[in-house]
Amino acid sequence: MQEQVEKIAFAHTGFMTSEPAEALADLLIEHAPGDLDRVYFVSGGSEATEAAIKLARQYFLEIGQPERRHVIARRQSYHGNTLGALSAGGNAWRRAQFAPMLIEMTHIAPCYEYAEKPNGESSFDYGQRVANELETEILRLGPDTVMAFMAEPVVGATLGAVPAVEGYYKRIREICDQYGVLLILDEVMCGMGRTGHLFACDHDQVAPDILCIAKGLGAGYQPIGAMMCTNRIFDAIRDGSGFFQHGHTYIGHPVATAAALAVVRELTVHDLPARAGVMGEKVQSALEAALGQHPNVGDIRGRGLFRGIELVADRDTKQPFDPAHGVAGKIKKAALAEGLICYPMSGTRDGRLGDHILLAPPFIIEDAEVDEMVGKLNNAITAVI
Ligand SMILES: Cc1ncc(COP(=O)(O)O)c(C=O)c1O
Repeated sequence: MQEQVEKIAFAHTGFMTSEPAEALADLLIEHAPGDLDRVYFVSGGSEATEAAIKLARQYFLEIGQPERRHVIARRQSYHGNTLGALSAGGNAWRRAQFAPMLIEMTHIAPCYEYAEKPNGESSFDYGQRVANELETEILRLGPDTVMAFMAEPVVGATLGAVPAVEGYYKRIREICDQYGVLLILDEVMCGMGRTGHLFACDHDQVAPDILCIAKGLGAGYQPIGAMMCTNRIFDAIRDGSGFFQHGHTYIGHPVATAAALAVVRELTVHDLPARAGVMGEKVQSALEAALGQHPNVGDIRGRGLFRGIELVADRDTKQPFDPAHGVAGKIKKAALAEGLICYPMSGTRDGRLGDHILLAPPFIIEDAEVDEMVGKLNNAITAVI
């Protein structure tokens, strides 16, 4: 019993344990990358990222490195709306009005090949160069003061389904290992099968020290999120103070974990992540066929059933639209009028400039529905631009 409680919720608050929570933890651990052997169930994405930041801090206190306090994250990322999570996020617009209240964290470049890779530089070299910004920032802050680097494997809301280029995350992992910095991956939006793997970072062949999931974990049936971590982190706390100084009333909620268990069983039994990979390629091809030559479509990207379209005023120069046009907002309305729910957002480039549309259809989408979705989106874009 004690071991089960430890595996699931390593604080003595909230629900102790339950059959669905145990089974769900087992299932996630079985499929998780690396040695993410502990699970902490919360009620959503922001709770998961907030808990991850606090866990990183407590870990370093437990192992006698209290000077480690800095979190490095990336520009144009989103990690949630609670103050700690918002501090890690790098979207200027979302942060602006709360700026005086945010915890000091620093932000390096995202891996955003379409807009930020100069012509003439290879994708690989670009990825290595922007990954190396992490090392520069660690050295600037002082290697003994940095506790974690936090990033989304495929950036969702704020960039529009942008995966890193090959080699980027391997270099990030190397740098984290070299300086004893924890790697926190936020898969709240891109995880749980959406990009073709149950865990998005499997594509990049890296394993984090702490991983956050939510959204697809409950597939909308129940509010639930989870933070997973390695035994190394867990053991430091268990053998140290013995108590993760965190918690919410509903951690490990039995009904939420029962719903998520049903979801993850469905995902794994039917190998829906693989289906998301296959159907995602069809979505990409259909988008390219319909919009690939459109003068205002700059980039069509993503992985699996997580696709982004970046809209530009000029394809050749990649110049974004004037934000005064409110292109993303207008497309959202036009798409809804067509009967399509999608997630257009502005501020792609810097929190103010740029527009993209995010598509994340259900994993059970059929070929005809791919065509229907792309047709409706095409109509919406034509109606607005
Ligand atoms: C990558 C990422 N992290 C964290 C969050 C926050 O999750 P929630 O809205 O469930 O608090 C989101 C929400 O969109 C997200 O996309």
